[in-house]
Amino acid sequence: MRILVVGSGAREHTIAWKIVQGPLVEKVYCGPGNPGIAQIAECRSISLEDNFAALADFAETEKIDLTVIGPEDPLARGIVDVFQARGLRAFGPDRKAAVLEASKDFAKRLMTQNGIPTAAHRTFEDADTAIAYLEKINAPVFVKADGLAAGKGVIPGLTLETAIKAVQAIMVDRNFGSAGDKVVIEEALFGEEASFTVLTDGTYCLPFVSSQDHKMSLDGDRGKNTGGMGAYSPAPVMTPELSEQVMNTIVQPTINAMASEGRIFKGILYVGLMITETGPKVIEFNCRLGDPEAQVLLTRMESDLVPMLDACIDGTLDTVECKWKPEAATCVVMASGGYPDAYETGKVITGLDQANALGGVTVFHAGTQMRDGDIATGGGRVLGVTALARDIKSAIEGAYRGVEKIHFDQAHFRTDIGYRALNRVSSIDKREVSNRASL
Ligand code: AMP
Ligand code: GLY
Repeated sequence: MRILVVGSGAREHTIAWKIVQGPLVEKVYCGPGNPGIAQIAECRSISLEDNFAALADFAETEKIDLTVIGPEDPLARGIVDVFQARGLRAFGPDRKAAVLEASKDFAKRLMTQNGIPTAAHRTFEDADTAIAYLEKINAPVFVKADGLAAGKGVIPGLTLETAIKAVQAIMVDRNFGSAGDKVVIEEALFGEEASFTVLTDGTYCLPFVSSQDHKMSLDGDRGKNTGGMGAYSPAPVMTPELSEQVMNTIVQPTINAMASEGRIFKGILYVGLMITETGPKVIEFNCRLGDPEAQVLLTRMESDLVPMLDACIDGTLDTVECKWKPEAATCVVMASGGYPDAYETGKVITGLDQANALGGVTVFHAGTQMRDGDIATGGGRVLGVTALARDIKSAIEGAYRGVEKIHFDQAHFRTDIGYRALNRVSSIDKREVSNRASL
């Protein structure tokens, strides 16, 4: 098969890395890709503008059998609809279904109307009314830009003052542009977070193993919200009983509710969860693989990914099996100093080959670029250093051994990725751990 991967981050590097290992693949292209992806696939700088016409032309000319869309933005703008209209096979939800991620207000309405557990919320279209509401309730909240904001449009408002500042940042200062036309104010949930990822053909849902990312920029989950500074899988908080509860009370009802609105959701549904004292509740829905969750999930995937993606498009996912490796995986993100605020780029990166040569370690490229023949930094999140090892502790150690080999000026990374999993693992017995390693 000839496959095209759309995107340019570490998630797309991971998808391409997984796809090229499969037996069905003849050639993999990536548009636009990055220097890491260019080592395993042919990258083309094709424009994603003008209604994706250039990309669809490319898929037609190169006789692409399957196009896999990595990021949320082209999905929300209807790339799958454009491909379908031209008779091309593309993996991911169409525009109507991708609204589940593209509008938090939509997602909250769907959940509220269908009894899907989530934080209580209100949506506002002007800052004054939102602030008056905050003053009235005077309770810890999370303030969210309604639209897509590259994972950064959620601001904790645990005091009244920070909540008001958050509304102003989103609606008055317009820090996230038109994503801040509406603001969702949500009750703060307390508990442990987990990410739950499923593949779905619009009816049948195939759960992936569990994973968890670290959203905050600094150790101890302090600092600012980012796209994700690291991830691990499995997430020991996600027991088999809890997984079943999430499938029955959240995932299947969401896919069914979407279908009953004529929004057939085919693709990846990523559910950000808070495991509260009263059970799992939805924090957010995404319509694509998480980044850096993709790095740990696909590293652990034993089966070939391509037949699963094909089956989603064909509506035959119930006939496909997905096998997982029993090992654990950890990904540590190396970012440019300053991220998620302003940062410099163009810093030469050394040690990539040495890191990749370590057993079980794979370095996925996020924001990198070629500079005079060298690989240099080119974005906020630069690399996802990922290790697969027999248990979570060894996977964490492996990822940090990889990080130690890599150098670039002002590199920033967290030193505590996986600490929650480690704390849990150390408090349960060994037999339990080996059972859980395959979740
Ligand atoms: P999101 O961009 O929706 O993933 O939100 C970013 C982070 O904010 C989440 O990973 C949570 O840590 C936190 N968060 C969002 N909404 C809530 C909530 N209602 N209660 C507690 N934490 C939340
Ligand atoms: N790591 C969180 C996300 O991809 O949205």
